Amino acid sequence: NMAEDPVNVNEYQELARQALPKMYYDFYAGGAEDQHTLKENMEAFRRITFRPRILRDVSKINLSTTILGYNVSAPIMIAPTAFHKLAHPEGEVATARAAAASNVIMILSYVSMCTVEEVASSCNAIRFFQIYVYKRRDVTAQLVQRAERSGYKAIVLTVDVPRLGRREPDIKNKMIAPQLKNFEGLLATQVVSDEGSNLQAFAASTIDASLSWKDIGWLRSITKLPILIKGVLTHEDAIKAVEAGAAGIVVSNHGARQLDYSPATISVLEEVVHAVKGKVPVFVDGGVRRGTDVFKALALGAQAVLIGRPVVYGLAVKGETGVRRVTEMLKDELELTMALSGCPTLKDITRGHVITDPERLH
Ligand code: FNR
Repeated sequence: NMAEDPVNVNEYQELARQALPKMYYDFYAGGAEDQHTLKENMEAFRRITFRPRILRDVSKINLSTTILGYNVSAPIMIAPTAFHKLAHPEGEVATARAAAASNVIMILSYVSMCTVEEVASSCNAIRFFQIYVYKRRDVTAQLVQRAERSGYKAIVLTVDVPRLGRREPDIKNKMIAPQLKNFEGLLATQVVSDEGSNLQAFAASTIDASLSWKDIGWLRSITKLPILIKGVLTHEDAIKAVEAGAAGIVVSNHGARQLDYSPATISVLEEVVHAVKGKVPVFVDGGVRRGTDVFKALALGAQAVLIGRPVVYGLAVKGETGVRRVTEMLKDELELTMALSGCPTLKDITRGHVITDPERLH
């Protein structure tokens, strides 16, 4: 029975659809406009094939690595995703406990429903904190400082949302932005709009669309934490991010929820990696659904991947246990992929282990 025992991460999506109200499922699953990039994020992984090596002693496989100096069990992080209490009553606390149990890094979303402090005190997961920069800079600065005080190890600045992408399922459903405890007493988190997505109205009223490269300096001036820039898709911007002092780059198209017809992230990863020349680690997210996808990302130069929707689906289906199953399944599949490719450690994974016909990748 699939409901009791999903055998892969994709099976959680259908179970989540059955478990959730349509408005929330559509919010999690949806992409922007034609959802072209949404499909491409996954399809582009499928077009990459392997050059497995043989006779390499794969009796012991080691998946562990370090990310920004922190020891983790696998090159897999939990991507920042909004509103976890819409998936499960325990919300981000359950997700964080699963991250701790699996020893992977959790990136808490700026628009979480549990507070920065609640998540910090609920478990000993290594946590990063994602931010948007609001017009109310004082609000963003307070959140950054609260995260720093409660032991988050890095700030992940998401830069691909000057405005919210056009997510038509949310417009049809008149998606409601929930109350956000993080901002209690700081700003009104429920903007009423009778037309279309309430979330879109909330984003429009809060997010600072004037954000530019010079503001990275402002962010660096208010925190000692390393800053990762999330939402890079070109070699030009990768170089600018390094120059601006980023401690890492996340190649991301926001899970295809922002600019439709953005490239599949795996198809531009290598361009970014080459531009960065090893100066900072490069991470990637978007469409990672299999251990083979994680392996492919590493072969193309990523230090780790981030997982978005599968985590939310696991949370919707089985709370903390569901999230842990999702991360453990991906880890198990990665381990098997390494064994079958002749790579006992992550360092053994090279460009030569994958085939990307450029004509087919793009
Ligand atoms: C997101 N993403 C996101 N990113 C971010 O920086 N802050 C956020 O609050 C959110 N919220 C969010 C909600 C939902 C429902 C989704 C699906 C995504 C983007 C996320 O961090 C990540 O880039 C993508 O989810 C990765 O793609 P996959 O793994 O979902 O295909």
